[in-house]
Amino acid sequence: MSIREATPYDADALAAVHAACFERPWSAAEIDRMMLEGFGLVSEGRDAFLLGRVSAGEAEILTVAVDPACRRQGHGRRLVDAAIEVARDQGAEMIFLEVAADNAPAIGIYHAAGFQLVGKRPGYYHRAEGSRADALVMKRSLSA
Ligand SMILES: CC(C)(COP(=O)(O)OP(=O)(O)OC[C@H]1O[C@@H](n2cnc3c(N)ncnc32)[C@H](O)[C@@H]1OP(=O)(O)O)[C@@H](O)C(=O)NCCC(=O)NCCS
Repeated sequence: MSIREATPYDADALAAVHAACFERPWSAAEIDRMMLEGFGLVSEGRDAFLLGRVSAGEAEILTVAVDPACRRQGHGRRLVDAAIEVARDQGAEMIFLEVAADNAPAIGIYHAAGFQLVGKRPGYYHRAEGSRADALVMKRSLSA
């Protein structure tokens, strides 16, 4: 699977993947705006994507989503590795992300990519059914 930079023409396809992955879907317009303000990476079949941004020497992964039919094929891991390279190329020294404490698949890919737990935000995520979940803050250094 190859990964390329996402363009505005991908926004509808990425919104469909996002809607299949999260209970609060982002619109194509929101995804387009995030790509403009940061960067987007997409798999060649447009069944997996990642959005991130770099500011003042720090990068952030905003989301990573893989269509449920295409999981456990390495797409998520490859996207995170590609985001690390983009962040480095754009001069970031650290990359951060937030992930729900009960999201074992995502925590798995972030650990595998070298991220470490640096904080916790209790009750940060509000679930549609009314419950709350803690957010874990994870960080990876980008220096050699
Ligand atoms: C999290 C997500 C992006 C992972 O994508 P993926 O393409 O299936 O992940 P990969 O195939 O690259 O998996 C890499 C490693 O992560 C871990 N992992 C992935 N899915 C896992 C699961 N369901 N349970 C446990 N570990 C898992 C494993 O270590 C895996 O390596 P392995 O397959 O060799 O065992 C995908 O499950 C997803 O889109 N989830 C919904 C959206 C989401 O929660 N995004 C993260 C928001 S912070």
